[in-house]
Amino acid sequence: MRRIYAVLAWIVAGGVVVQAASIAFALGGIAHFVQEGGVIDKALVESRQAVFTGELGFPIHGIVGGMVIPAAALLLLILSFFVKYQRTHLRGARLWAGVVFALVALQATLGYSIADMPYLGLIHGANALAVLVAAIHAALRTRPTAAARVARLASPNAVTT
Ligand code: HEM
Repeated sequence: MRRIYAVLAWIVAGGVVVQAASIAFALGGIAHFVQEGGVIDKALVESRQAVFTGELGFPIHGIVGGMVIPAAALLLLILSFFVKYQRTHLRGARLWAGVVFALVALQATLGYSIADMPYLGLIHGANALAVLVAAIHAALRTRPTAAARVARLASPNAVTT
């Protein structure tokens, strides 16, 4: 259980890296396309035809940000109710899964609203860092504390989940 909790938290953290990379790839591609004399208008966007390098970054950002990360955050939250609290090291598993889930929900909502209100991009970019930190914190909390490791060495038959 503890390991799955950690894996899900790392998926969220890794997803943030993918998100930053994919959107930089896409926007870099747009900048290059325009610099070379290309013109982007509504018709081109809606045609969904790949015309510039980096265009793949947009669907990657949409799929990872709209499905993969939210699904991992939701599973993390659900799982947090089943993780057994061993001594002190997993205390807060629910709290941190809740924080990650809330930040991801905010992040996706902001993402879908950026086109209507571009200023929201300021919060969207900054909140991604909050998601990253919260997810890493949740993942690292699953590591046994030094005290728990010592206790396990002292009584190797103790149950750890
Ligand atoms: C936890 C990390 C992130 C999540 C869950 C996320 C989620 C999303 C979602 C769901 C959308 C809407 C996509 C669509 O309409 O198809 C979006 C759009 C956008 N995001 Fe993110 N995002 C994340 C990180 C970032 C980062 C780090 C940046 C850049 C610093 C960024 C910049 C943008 C921009 C510019 C858009 C509008 C372009 C587009 O619609 O693809 N996002 N994001």
